[in-house]
Amino acid sequence: MSAVRYEVDGNVAVLTVDYPPVNALSAAVRTGLGEGLEKARNDDSVEAVIVLGADKTFIAGADITEFGTEKSAVKPGLRDLIETLETFPKLTVAAIHGTALGGGLELALGCHARVAVSSAKVGLPEVNLGILPGAGGTQRLPRLTGVETGIDLITSGKHIPAAKALELGVVDAVVDDVRAGGVAFAQKSLAEGTQFTAVIERNDKISGVEPKVFEEARKRIGAKARGKIAPMVIIDCIEAATKMDSVAGLKYEQEKFQELFASDQRGALMHYFFAEREARKVPDLPADTKVRPINSAAVIGSGTMGGGIAMVFANAGIQVKLVDISSEALEKGMETVRKNYEISVGRGSMPKAKMDAALKLIETTTDYADLANTDIVIEAVFEKMDLKKEIFSKLDSVMKDGAILATNTSSLDIDEIASATKRPEDVIGVHFFSPANVMKLQENIRGAKSSPSTIKTVMDIGKKLGKNVVLAGNCDGFIGNRILQYYTGEAEFLLEQGATPEQVDRVAMKFGMPMGPISMRDMSGLDVGVLVRKARWNSLPEGERMSPIVERLAERGRIGMKVGKGFYRYEGRDKFPDPETTEIIEGVAKEYGVKRREFTDEEIELRLFAPMVNEGAKELEDGTAIRASDIDVAWVNGYGFPAHKGGPMYWGERVGLKKIHEMAVEAEKRNGPRWAPSKLLGRLAKEGKGWKDA
Ligand SMILES: NC(=O)c1ccc[n+]([C@@H]2O[C@H](COP(=O)([O-])OP(=O)(O)OC[C@H]3O[C@@H](n4cnc5c(N)ncnc54)[C@H](O)[C@@H]3O)[C@@H](O)[C@H]2O)c1
Repeated sequence: MSAVRYEVDGNVAVLTVDYPPVNALSAAVRTGLGEGLEKARNDDSVEAVIVLGADKTFIAGADITEFGTEKSAVKPGLRDLIETLETFPKLTVAAIHGTALGGGLELALGCHARVAVSSAKVGLPEVNLGILPGAGGTQRLPRLTGVETGIDLITSGKHIPAAKALELGVVDAVVDDVRAGGVAFAQKSLAEGTQFTAVIERNDKISGVEPKVFEEARKRIGAKARGKIAPMVIIDCIEAATKMDSVAGLKYEQEKFQELFASDQRGALMHYFFAEREARKVPDLPADTKVRPINSAAVIGSGTMGGGIAMVFANAGIQVKLVDISSEALEKGMETVRKNYEISVGRGSMPKAKMDAALKLIETTTDYADLANTDIVIEAVFEKMDLKKEIFSKLDSVMKDGAILATNTSSLDIDEIASATKRPEDVIGVHFFSPANVMKLQENIRGAKSSPSTIKTVMDIGKKLGKNVVLAGNCDGFIGNRILQYYTGEAEFLLEQGATPEQVDRVAMKFGMPMGPISMRDMSGLDVGVLVRKARWNSLPEGERMSPIVERLAERGRIGMKVGKGFYRYEGRDKFPDPETTEIIEGVAKEYGVKRREFTDEEIELRLFAPMVNEGAKELEDGTAIRASDIDVAWVNGYGFPAHKGGPMYWGERVGLKKIHEMAVEAEKRNGPRWAPSKLLGRLAKEGKGWKDA
């Protein structure tokens, strides 16, 4: 059966792409469309063609499983089809429902006109895979929207709803029913003799654009891109559209597409794309494991995390009860929640109506009895084992059978928390990151007794909550924080050995981290750092120490940004090096007999990131992480590791596991036994293998 159905409705040929699950532009679909168009060309009764998708969506995009395979070369290619639609002697209309993304939207832009139902979304998300829309997207979309909006849409990969697409000129009409509306639009246009100019020939919105528009976009988007090349190349292509004729512009786009396609960043982002999807799968759960319905939630503790977690559920349309010890505490918590919503609305990232609806879904209470019918509870009180156990024992007595009892702990033992209940099978870690309503990671932690259905339910809910999930084993720090201590630990040793805070931060930022490890400490507060590190100081193995710089700075009141001084001195948001910090660091180096020297940026980069890879290998070895790519997902979403480097494990493999192993051998000598190379890493390095052989 063809992937494209051909039907005639009056004087309109209807080409329906029917290629589950998302009508991607695979070879079969392209062939089917090519054949359908020829049939329509030769059918004298046909005066117009509409293209639409079967089932839930228009063409959702390219078929990335065909990338780099023989199938991707099968003719007609997407560009051939677009040219056919654009120069077709009869009217061509794209009728969009669901999503028209990437190649799907590019194909629609090749049609003479576009209509969409109101729930449809369109966008060119190629930038997220390190490429650009290479079938004319950078040349056609700005011709409809204007250059500035075009730059914004294509460099962000944003999906825009139909109403916005209509306002921007991307679609010509919003219709009620995709097929009937598409046919009616075509027939009306024919009856009225409406003349459509091919998008590629419309130059009014791209003429006379000042060069400073591009300069400013490069500055603004460059600052956010953190080393990602695709957004910058997209700006070059859009500038080319304003300077070259359409043939040259399309050719330029094509060359730039090839360059990006061959880049390391594309490889890393593709890896990352699949990693996110893979991370949702838990291989050892029985096939018939049931997902429990989650229609209501409760959050215990309305502090920094609790408030944010309540927002996450409310944003997903789930009723949530927020619990704290007093109505004063709840009032304070809700004030922060409201403020955070207002910031989103003020920024334009959330419509006011959505804020109002979400706020209506959050109820507050101090009475645990109110939670009796709730499907899931997330505990987010202070990080104290006794308190958490007390709360879980209370939850055990009030919550209905089958409710999920989750903790947001960052470090405590899930099994010990579960032991406070008579139903450890329903207990699990569901770890969000701060700010919970913004950060994308949801790190679920399985306890020894967490049941398959408990695990599957919390893995499943991530999608609804708009989070990327990973499943971790129960250990100190789980997947993400367990690795973090090696990153920040090595940063501090580097300072003792002669690198400056500015240099360490600069190298991390150049690598693509949103913030350097030293500034990160200043931001979260050195007093908090000292508290978290206390337990670790006492549990260090023989022959190992941590750098006490954080403690020494805190002793002198340098507890971070909030007091205007930490590692750096602050004037407002601007930071400056401070001689007192240098004196403290030099003092520590002297005390421990550390020889100071200069470091190259390359050395610092390897020293910061290689130990993370080694610890990641240990997580694979002991089962804390199911697969290496889960560690990548955790670090990209929870800590801002650049996705265009694929995540720490992918990066490590690109650097070479042999090199990472050598670094670990050195780190053990320098820093102590916890830094020793992982056995798995040693084996893979020796055999010249990669994570897939782990
Ligand atoms: N802050 C972070 O960056 C972060 C990130 C991930 C996880 N966590 C974890 O989340 C949890 C909460 O951290 P936080 O930063 O939101 O703390 P917080 O101090 O901001 O908030 C804790 C809240 O719990 C309330 N509380 C205390 N005892 C209670 C009780 N018996 N019943 C109901 N409420 C009670 C407090 O009144 C307070 O509102 C901790 O386990 C922490 O380790 C924190």
